[in-house]
Amino acid sequence: MPSIKAINHVAVVVDDMEKSLTFWRDALGLDLHELRDVPAEKSQVAFLPLAGAEVELVMPTSDDSGIAKYLAKRGPGMHHICLEVDDIVGMLAQLRSKNIRLINEEPRTTADGKQYIFIHPESTGGVLVELYQV
Ligand code: CO
Repeated sequence: MPSIKAINHVAVVVDDMEKSLTFWRDALGLDLHELRDVPAEKSQVAFLPLAGAEVELVMPTSDDSGIAKYLAKRGPGMHHICLEVDDIVGMLAQLRSKNIRLINEEPRTTADGKQYIFIHPESTGGVLVELYQV
C-alpha cells in the first residue's frame, strides 16, 4: 500500500522574486539555498530549506505558462503543498480508484530525477497538491 512520508515543500507563487525574498530571506531569516530557472515549468524558483522541508517561491518567466495564468487569475499567494510518497504509481492507482481528479495523468520527472504529479484542487478541498516519489 503506498504511503505519504513527509511534507516536501510548500510553494508560493510570487510576481516579484526580489521583493518576496525581502520577506522570506531577509525578514524571516530563512536561508536561500538556490535560485534556479526551471525551463520545463517556465518559471524561476527560489528554494529555502527548513527542517527537512522547503519553502519554494515560484515566479513565472513567461506569460503563457500555467503558473503565469494562475498568477493572472488569482494573484500572488499560496500555490501548492507537496507531499512525499514512497510509491507514486501505486498512489496514482489508489487515487484513480477513488475518482480523484489529477492534473497530469502520468508522472513527470524533474531535472534532478524525481517523479511528480499534481492533484486537482477540485478533489482536495481547494488546495493544489503535488506528490513526489521519495
Ligand atoms: Co512543487
